[in-house]
Amino acid sequence: MALLTILEYPDPRLRKVAVPVTAFGPEVAKLVRDMAETMYAAPGVGLAATQVDVHKRVIVIDISDSKDDLLVLVNPEIAAAEGEAECEEGCLSVPGYYDKVTRAARITVKARNEHGEPIERTAEGLLAVCIQHEMDHLVGKMFVDYLSPLKRARLTAKQRKKQRLAS
Ligand code: NI
Repeated sequence: MALLTILEYPDPRLRKVAVPVTAFGPEVAKLVRDMAETMYAAPGVGLAATQVDVHKRVIVIDISDSKDDLLVLVNPEIAAAEGEAECEEGCLSVPGYYDKVTRAARITVKARNEHGEPIERTAEGLLAVCIQHEMDHLVGKMFVDYLSPLKRARLTAKQRKKQRLAS
């Protein structure tokens, strides 16, 4: 296993659109293991492959307190969505920043696991938020895109300054 480097906003690679996984072999299994390890180490409750600069439709999520309930979604698609709910979100690619985003309250997602087996989950609450947040990453979208242009501009300036100081 290996810890992967998480890209930070506004890195342009976070805007790439991921392609579906077509072959379920050791490569996907390794990616999923490394992504899970990276997410747990961060620590975070979700990670999309886009965030580790791998542009494939793969996400890992674990919202459990005990960190032993890993959900792997490969090629996820939203099959149904209803209602609206506002929740404060954060992102491993925007460390230390949290803000409210409105998303669907309940969703049904169809996907495959790391072995290529079909799965279907209906989710609400934090899990629904997390799935929608991570699926956005796969199309190059980030939760800060839902903020006002002024808030986003401030955040972008702050992140750029931080990254200049770090490099
Ligand atoms: Ni995120």
